[in-house]
Amino acid sequence: MTDLFTPLSLGDLVLPNRIVMAPLTRSRATPDRVPTPMMTAHYVQRASAGLIIAEATNVAPQSNAWECAPGIFTAAQVDAWRGLVAAVHSAGGRIALQLWHGGRVAADRRDPPEAPLSPSGVNDNLDAITVWGQGPEGRFVKLAATPSRAMTTAEIEDTIAAYGRAAQAAREAGFDAVQLHAANGYLPNQFLSPYLNRRTDAWGGSPENRARFALEAVTAMLPHFAPGRVGIRISPFATINGALDPDPVPAYAHLVRKLGRRGLGWVELADSNCWSGRFDRDAMLDLVRPVFGGPVIVNGGIDPPTAQQLVAAGRAEAVSFGRLWITNPDLTARIRQGGPYTVKRISGRLYGGGPDGYNDFPTLEEERAARPA
Ligand SMILES: Cc1cc2nc3c(=O)[nH]c(=O)nc-3n(C[C@H](O)[C@H](O)[C@H](O)COP(=O)(O)O)c2cc1C
Repeated sequence: MTDLFTPLSLGDLVLPNRIVMAPLTRSRATPDRVPTPMMTAHYVQRASAGLIIAEATNVAPQSNAWECAPGIFTAAQVDAWRGLVAAVHSAGGRIALQLWHGGRVAADRRDPPEAPLSPSGVNDNLDAITVWGQGPEGRFVKLAATPSRAMTTAEIEDTIAAYGRAAQAAREAGFDAVQLHAANGYLPNQFLSPYLNRRTDAWGGSPENRARFALEAVTAMLPHFAPGRVGIRISPFATINGALDPDPVPAYAHLVRKLGRRGLGWVELADSNCWSGRFDRDAMLDLVRPVFGGPVIVNGGIDPPTAQQLVAAGRAEAVSFGRLWITNPDLTARIRQGGPYTVKRISGRLYGGGPDGYNDFPTLEEERAARPA
């Protein structure tokens, strides 16, 4: 029987287990978006994951979402990633990079601010946008989003090229794979949303036109990795960051069908409404399964027993965990033993700051050693 410990192939990349680390922004890079040694320590601690999908990483300076989130568009950033990836490999792990452009999910704190780029400059629901940055006392706080402006055709093409350059840089840094972040209301999701994308050119209107940006971004990434090592994360039913879509099925089915034909490595389904107690996992699987023949990774509010069931039933090929990896660096070993799991709220230290609330969660073995005999 297939279970979470059955190896899984993504093209020629073999995962020793199906326990994936979901991408998790923690804002521990420098203000110039250079990865730091504490990030290396964090991922090395979690090298037992079948695959680490490293946090959302800016593909261009115009992507100005969260402060101290990493980038991969300067030589210093690429060098730092190279060291981090080598350390994860030395620890026996595999690591993909999530390529990210925030689009209208951005806060520019310069005076005057530069308007972020978005499909149509829709700014009537800015309160729906979540962007974090350094607050007055050093703690990270939610910032007011800067109103965006519609992209020109040339800016769309430049941005697609930036995904290609980022994939090339990820390859040079030694990453095993890359994933397009097309979920959670960021730029590719903004193009997919008929509410945020009101364009009347080839980039808007029909479901096919709205899916075009995400398709072309993946197309720009494909020359740099074998198709099996390129993935996409989508959240078709999510309302996060205001990317509303009353009928997401046609655009997403078109997108995923096309990607399947190109042999894409995986689709990761982020159940981002799970935070409000609404689960769209079945609806997402019903959307994707008939049109995508490759591996599907499910995510969002899934506990390990449910993950085992989903994989055993062939409903999903793998499960990615977010919060459980934050507080359990040895999640793979804990799942193998049937738990227990550290479950802690760490608000205040999720984004920004030092190694506390980041690299100081003990393994089961460390917990046992620390317990009085
Ligand atoms: C601190 C934090 C940072 C996150 N950063 C990202 C990110 O960089 N990219 C992304 O696609 N999702 C991100 N997410 C969403 C998670 O990948 C995941 O979808 C979410 O936590 C639900 O899964 P879970 O119930 O297993 O935690 C983040 C979530 C949290 C809690």
